[in-house]
Amino acid sequence: MALLEIKNLHLMMRSFEGRAHILNGIDLSVERGEVWGLVGETGCGKSVTGLSVSRLLPSPPAEYVLGEILFDGQDVLHAGEPTMRALRGRRIGMIFQDPTTNLNPVFRISEQLIDVALHVAAHDPGLLGVTRNASERDKRGAARKVAIQMLDKVGIPHAAERIDMYPHQFSGGMRQRVLIAMALIGKPDLLIADEPTTALDVSVQAQVLRLIHGLVQEFNLGVLLITHNLGVVAQVCTHVAVMYAGNIVESGPVRAIFKHPRHPYTRALLRAIPSARMKRGDLIGLAGTVPNLVSPPAGCRFAPRCEFAQPECRERLPAAIEVTPAHRVHCILARQAAEVV
Ligand SMILES: Nc1ncnc2c1ncn2[C@@H]1O[C@H](COP(=O)(O)OP(=O)(O)OP(=O)(O)O)[C@@H](O)[C@H]1O
Ligand SMILES: [Mg+2]
Repeated sequence: MALLEIKNLHLMMRSFEGRAHILNGIDLSVERGEVWGLVGETGCGKSVTGLSVSRLLPSPPAEYVLGEILFDGQDVLHAGEPTMRALRGRRIGMIFQDPTTNLNPVFRISEQLIDVALHVAAHDPGLLGVTRNASERDKRGAARKVAIQMLDKVGIPHAAERIDMYPHQFSGGMRQRVLIAMALIGKPDLLIADEPTTALDVSVQAQVLRLIHGLVQEFNLGVLLITHNLGVVAQVCTHVAVMYAGNIVESGPVRAIFKHPRHPYTRALLRAIPSARMKRGDLIGLAGTVPNLVSPPAGCRFAPRCEFAQPECRERLPAAIEVTPAHRVHCILARQAAEVV
């Protein structure tokens, strides 16, 4: 059984423009030790997918009309709120998009991390290494120790002294590390990281990515890394799922997809990665814009921008084709190639 399994998930959201079909039947399966990159243009549904796994989208406006999300076999969409509270932070760690809004500027780092450790310990008393009937003071002391250890682990130098500082006294990279520490404090089985390096300069970005990679090796986590940056995927991910307008159009091992991308959208994304060897004019953009999800095009949502689109693409989304056992793609081009093979 996979750690995380998303099956044919359809999500509708009401907005002022009307009812939008935000996720159009996505399938994704993450095992321990795998780092999945979820990539795609802005607005394609990456963050709502991550938020759905920990059921953090309020309903309304979110409405799950079909499909399921299984975390370690547990039905997330129908679990009660106490079950979800126990999962969040403890078995599912989350780093949200926009680090500046996720640390409270008026509280010391220590208070924020201790609060999280105490919340986790309420469901998992073993975490603090003290008995359930220990005094509040002893529990806080133990939580502080756990917090310092975790800051140390994510590479904050002099963690024992720095922990009592305020977020504004930390650099952007250090704040990001604090958020990672916060997400890892409960030793989660799955880490969902939504654009964890977007606000960082490239050298700090590389450090944070190395850190995530090291943590996967150490704790055997499964990771869902949401990003629009394929360079980040190439550096740290084992697998990648490419999203376009609410569909995962192609997914599989990073190496296979970077070497033999089958979907025209994946190819366009890969062509748009800048490299130092490129000459002026080599960088190719993708014409057109992402469709409006209140009235999306019928069939393959990419068809209006696709130079290979056939009439059948505009009627229904092509069924997934397994190019190799782990490499899946929703495109008739892959079918033609598969028939040739
Ligand atoms: N609370 C909400 N109510 C209505 N629509 C929403 C809500 N949250 C997100 N959406 C819509 O869902 C779609 C997917 O949004 P999402 O935030 O998942 O995009 P994304 O892929 O993470 O983009 P980005 O790369 O910009 O972060 C968008 O069309 C967005 O407008
Ligand atoms: Mg997002």
